[in-house]
Amino acid sequence: MQNRLIPTMPSSSYPGSLLVFEGIDGTGKSTQISLLARALTEQGHNVLLSYEPTDGPLGKKLRASMIEGRLSPDEELALFHDDRRDHVKRLILPALREGKIVILDRYYFSTMAYQGTRGYDPVKIREHNETFAPIPDQVFLLELPVATALKRIGVRDGQGNSFEKKENLEACTRVFDTLCDPFISRIDASQDVETIHAAILKQTMVTTS
Ligand code: TYD
Repeated sequence: MQNRLIPTMPSSSYPGSLLVFEGIDGTGKSTQISLLARALTEQGHNVLLSYEPTDGPLGKKLRASMIEGRLSPDEELALFHDDRRDHVKRLILPALREGKIVILDRYYFSTMAYQGTRGYDPVKIREHNETFAPIPDQVFLLELPVATALKRIGVRDGQGNSFEKKENLEACTRVFDTLCDPFISRIDASQDVETIHAAILKQTMVTTS
């Protein structure tokens, strides 16, 4: 299955660059984001880090649902979209217009994967998101077997939440596996932190003005 769609709003039409990290829980996205941000800042770039769900009211409601119990599929999907719409307007687009490198910990590919596992068509989710969210310049997709990811989550916070169940992460992996855009770099997240960082840095292409 191919999820490639005609880009409607490529972020390359802005002075900045949009870099996104995706992958199932436990793949080490936040560690790699910190390392990349530090390296790019040392190179003199103006870097802005952000994440989804955001820390705004809608993102907070989503995070609460991970602990207290999942919302209905419709409510959850709508909240992720509303949270992202707000994120794009409030932070992502202004930063891209100012020429910053925006690095995101999760974006609409996570909605395709995680809400796609709740009965929605990932291609339709993508199509909808690309009506309001800029298409990234680059996506680093961190890949790890679910068993390894679960072991890491266990070490990190003891007990997986409802998003982090084995079957759910396996279904998410199947959606991530379908992505085939030229801007997607697949990264073997089972390697050591420095090797992964070096691979990511080597593949990072940023254009800022
Ligand atoms: P995560 O980045 O793992 O947060 P934390 O670092 O606090 O563990 O994101 C939280 C969860 O949100 C993760 O399990 C995936 C889920 N998620 C979705 O289901 N849909 C989405 O669109 C996004 C952005 C995240």
